[in-house]
Amino acid sequence: MHEPQPPTPAATARIGASGFAGHPRGLSTLFFTELWERFSYYGMRALLALFVVAPAAAGGLGLSTMEAARIYGNYTMAVYMLSIPGGYIADRYLGARHAVLVGGGIIACGHYTLAIPSLTSFYIGLALIAIGTGLFKPNISVMVGGLYREGDERRDAGFSIFYMGINIGGLIAPLITGFLAQSALFKGWLADWGFDPAMSWHWGFAAAGVGMTFGLLAFVAQGARLRSVGNAPAISAAGAGISLLVLAGTVAAIGLTVLSDAEGFQWLRSLFLIVPVAAIAWFASKADLDAKRIAAIFVLFIAAMIFWAIFEQAGLTIAFFADKLTRTEIAGIAFPSAWVQSLNPFFVILLAPIFAWGWVRLGPRQPSSPMKFAIGLALLGASFLLMVPAAMLTADGKVSPLWLVGLFFLQTTGELCLSPVGLSAMTKLAPYRFVGLMLGVWFLAAAWGNKLAGILGGGFTAGDAGELAMFFLQQALMVAVGAGLLFALTPWVKRLMGGVR
Ligand code: PHE
Repeated sequence: MHEPQPPTPAATARIGASGFAGHPRGLSTLFFTELWERFSYYGMRALLALFVVAPAAAGGLGLSTMEAARIYGNYTMAVYMLSIPGGYIADRYLGARHAVLVGGGIIACGHYTLAIPSLTSFYIGLALIAIGTGLFKPNISVMVGGLYREGDERRDAGFSIFYMGINIGGLIAPLITGFLAQSALFKGWLADWGFDPAMSWHWGFAAAGVGMTFGLLAFVAQGARLRSVGNAPAISAAGAGISLLVLAGTVAAIGLTVLSDAEGFQWLRSLFLIVPVAAIAWFASKADLDAKRIAAIFVLFIAAMIFWAIFEQAGLTIAFFADKLTRTEIAGIAFPSAWVQSLNPFFVILLAPIFAWGWVRLGPRQPSSPMKFAIGLALLGASFLLMVPAAMLTADGKVSPLWLVGLFFLQTTGELCLSPVGLSAMTKLAPYRFVGLMLGVWFLAAAWGNKLAGILGGGFTAGDAGELAMFFLQQALMVAVGAGLLFALTPWVKRLMGGVR
């Protein structure tokens, strides 16, 4: 028998370890809540663009590809942009826990609203999901961080487990919503039950709402495991005022971005590049290290924005390619085209452990963050380059789904070089008191990237193989230029980072 020892600092940090793979039990609450929230997000997103262009007779909105791209870009942009006020309001006012609860409730209402077949309910539903996700998404991540005390060596592993939850939700969702919305089998059942089979889309949207409801139930039922994590701060009047200001500023920025779709206002889009380039020039010219590191953050910002501009076309360009130009069948059995959306989360679940092992294995020999970003961009360029021959082959009819397997394999290896690395680089490069703000900047890169995905995806055409090949080639070249520039700038960015890798 051992004498009881006084707890070491590491042991103190491990208090609460039990139940969930050696992690604080609250991680399981957050894991399942986020799994179901992402189930709802990606389950709905897998249908969104297809629903918008489906003819009215097939239950869709009957709009053009261009209009679908506009809706997709503005909606996904708003989702991530609203994370900035969502995070701020929780920090100063509501607390992360209430923000997740309220946000999750609004998201569920949004999906159920989409289940009602009308154009008004469609737009109201999208707005509700965007607002709810703004409150939910940043704050659930903040709570994951809050489970660990400073210096707890399990923190990074905790985030990796959480990222698995995200992708398990993203993997199963399109399988279910795609089956409900697109399969002949389910449409047959609807007809048998006396429902209109053309309304199948709305059953898919309702399933997304049910998923979010499961998430809320998990969050409430297992809430005690979170102890005090995410509790509201002491309310200050100034907090409420500034929160409103941040909210108003974000809504104005979203308004301007939507306005940039209109004739005569497209020049507004140049701000996507002018703003971060100006920030780089300003902060790099300062003498102190904190400022130089912020300059490095904005270099990574531009790279991430370009990355998401291609990557987030998955639910748009690639959804169309899968639906209209791919033989969606295995061994002669047809499957819903939305199932293709499960390939990215599938590869994340498969490859993330290999990457985690690889980075540890490489230790100090592993590439720096800007180098990993450049590799991520290069892989993304390669994924669209792969689509050039695939697009050419569509001249002879539908192509094999293996092209999309290849595309998502390359994109996911790119994602794993950039997305987790970026998140951790933001927290390491930001001066301590600005960490929350810099996470907001990271979400802004995702938001603008999604808007660009909508702008670029508007050029998709299923009618002309040569034009479609050019569409993919142009974007592959654009990303290749970005990757090349970043490779060239890496030594300079490393100097700006001043010791952070
Ligand atoms: N798959 C990621 C997620 O849903 C994509 C993402 C990365 C979204 C970064 C926002 C910001 O969480």
